[in-house]
Amino acid sequence: MKEIRIGLVGAGWMGKTHTNAFLNALMLFGAEAGKPVFEVVADVDLEAAKITSEKLGFARWSNSWQEIVSDQNVDVIDIATPNVFHYEVAKAALENGKHVYCEKPLTLSADQSKELANLAKEKGVVNYVGYNNVMNPASAYIKELVSSGKLGQIMRFSGTYDQDGLLDPNLPITWRHINKHSGSGSLGDLGSHLLSISQFILGDISKVNALSKIVIPKRPKQAGSSELADVENDDVISILAEYANGAIGTISSSRVATGRKNYLTFEIQGTDGSVFYSLERMNEVQVYFNSDHHADRGFRNVFLGPDHKGYETFYPAQGIALGYNDMKVLEAHELLSAISEGTPYACDFEFGWKIDRIISAILKSDSEKSWVEIV
Ligand SMILES: NC(=O)c1ccc[n+]([C@@H]2O[C@H](COP(=O)([O-])OP(=O)(O)OC[C@H]3O[C@@H](n4cnc5c(N)ncnc54)[C@H](O)[C@@H]3O)[C@@H](O)[C@H]2O)c1
Repeated sequence: MKEIRIGLVGAGWMGKTHTNAFLNALMLFGAEAGKPVFEVVADVDLEAAKITSEKLGFARWSNSWQEIVSDQNVDVIDIATPNVFHYEVAKAALENGKHVYCEKPLTLSADQSKELANLAKEKGVVNYVGYNNVMNPASAYIKELVSSGKLGQIMRFSGTYDQDGLLDPNLPITWRHINKHSGSGSLGDLGSHLLSISQFILGDISKVNALSKIVIPKRPKQAGSSELADVENDDVISILAEYANGAIGTISSSRVATGRKNYLTFEIQGTDGSVFYSLERMNEVQVYFNSDHHADRGFRNVFLGPDHKGYETFYPAQGIALGYNDMKVLEAHELLSAISEGTPYACDFEFGWKIDRIISAILKSDSEKSWVEIV
């Protein structure tokens, strides 16, 4: 059993989610794949670091990520800060020979992500991006439907990731609205998840054409304040895409999508069948096959079960509901196994770079109002 000592940077939502995931991975998979040890948590807000440390069981806390990236008692740096810090924290961690687990999107630009992917390869350490939807057993199932040829030739990927959490104009400005902190708006925050699923299942996109809108251009500087600040990035974005395999993509995201809460949905249409999925109905995959007898044709509802990779860890029978955190548990387990046993994983920094490369092309297309090739 190998102990894997964690240095967490960022004690917000994802910091807690990652720690919960490590604990559950240990409980569900046992310590053979690596036992997480909660060594230190760093947050610019020292009080938040202290509270999180005491609540989640870290041994120490700090207000300086610079201290912990070189800490001899830390094996993996877990980055759960706003996007802007991913690059500098990950770079320093890699330079110190640490394994790195970084939230998505990997950085603010394709160039920064490429640099990190190259550095991680050079250092030979585990480099993992938290695109947890790739770990959803539904994603493995749908990928298998596509790669086995059961759906025939893929003609189209059509998906959106919509939420209405930022519809209220009285909600104050956050790091997510400021480009130098986030890189983009709903695209990087939500759309990147959809792009990760598309990349995992269908491979590279070769060109994009995008159109975005800022629907709420100003927000209060603080809750209740009459002083306003500019919103700098997309509330809504729509993208037309062409895949390297010739399929057409229509992809969108919105953080002001009235009525939609966690509406990550996509449909893949092939010449022999189609598949539809919605994260709001996480445990169900709708599949249609042309090979069904004519009179029986229609979308069937397949409940996730032990036959779908990852599910069997949680439950022995089909149809028992998985939730968001379970994807993170599978992610944490994959990371621990990669560190302790060298097992392969999909969402490495190269994968993160591929997503950031698409995001950069989409942003360029949106600003230039033209098609942009992804090279
Ligand atoms: N995979 C997912 O489903 C998912 C979901 C939500 C967020 N995210 C990603 O996780 C990251 C964090 O998002 P969140 O929702 O947890 O944000 P959050 O605002 O809840 O937490 C961020 C934390 O980082 C701290 N912080 C800020 N700057 C710091 C610095 N320089 N050093 C140390 N700590 C610092 C803040 O004080 C805060 O506690 C983002 O990159 C976001 O895109 C991913």
